[in-house]
Amino acid sequence: MTEKTESLQSTQGETTQRPIPSLGFGTFQLKGATCIQAVATALEVGYRHIDTAQMYENEAEVGKAIRASGVPRSELFVTTKVWRTNLRSEDFRRSTDECLSKLGLDQVDLLLIHWPNRDIPLDEPLEALQNAKEEGKTKRVGVSNFAPSQLEHALKVIPDLACLQVEYHPLLSQDRLLEIVRSNGMFLTAYSPLGQGRLLDKWRLKRIARAHGKNTAQTILRWHLQQNGVVPIPRSGNVDHIRSNFDVFDFELTKDEMDRIDALDAGKRFVNPGWVDWER
Ligand SMILES: NC(=O)c1ccc[n+]([C@@H]2O[C@H](COP(=O)([O-])OP(=O)(O)OC[C@H]3O[C@@H](n4cnc5c(N)ncnc54)[C@H](OP(=O)(O)O)[C@@H]3O)[C@@H](O)[C@H]2O)c1
Repeated sequence: MTEKTESLQSTQGETTQRPIPSLGFGTFQLKGATCIQAVATALEVGYRHIDTAQMYENEAEVGKAIRASGVPRSELFVTTKVWRTNLRSEDFRRSTDECLSKLGLDQVDLLLIHWPNRDIPLDEPLEALQNAKEEGKTKRVGVSNFAPSQLEHALKVIPDLACLQVEYHPLLSQDRLLEIVRSNGMFLTAYSPLGQGRLLDKWRLKRIARAHGKNTAQTILRWHLQQNGVVPIPRSGNVDHIRSNFDVFDFELTKDEMDRIDALDAGKRFVNPGWVDWER
């Protein structure tokens, strides 16, 4: 498990498709020229998986950086997400078309429902998501910020759902969701993998990092990468951080180190907006 192209063993339907790059690049809050520069740096460093969203208002910049990079489209894995106020069928269709148009792409690799919306029954956006796939606008479909019962429901509507994207880092265990994800051949994209930068001074992580001659961010990302079916998507606007966050394929945490990091779980969420009902 030390190759940057390491594939996800349990992902469904990947026999005829490229493996999903195991480390992605997040773009939340990266705007304008900063976003173009950050994505350009990420692509130059070797990231091949870029995460954006309608709500980030940076799809045009992400698309621009992709085109300027010269990296063949076939090597890239691009994810975008439709915002929670656009989950009615027609809004979803229009949103998907706008996302593609801003990105300058005919198709994304993964399209997600960004958040559920309790005012709109789940079946409507799930059917719209499935339609987007059938119309060739995305290769795969998935959901984000779904609680276990919502994910189970989504799998009944779309059995080949490919991905769940949720907050996941050492302070927030996602065992229950991971069990559903793995038993259904999906992968889990770990957002805010560095706890939005707020995990980096944890002494236990620092000590483990020091033992490997690595920094804390690298150690956390390695912890994600060593879990079957987990894809972290760290974000950075800093060239040195973008580079060092990708330099995580030349060391391995021991079982004991993985367990010590697991034990940091405190049920701590850094992303917890008022509209959420996590355990529904
Ligand atoms: N689906 C959803 O609802 C959802 C929600 C949140 C996020 N996401 C996705 O997940 C991505 C990542 O999550 P996130 O942006 O919330 O947080 P994150 O990746 O956990 O942390 C980003 C923060 O960490 C800092 N950082 C990154 N690498 C560092 C390093 N090596 N050393 C020191 N500081 C470092 C960054 O600052 P610098 O810029 O200074 O490096 C930034 O402040 C997002 O960008 C987005 O694509 C999705």
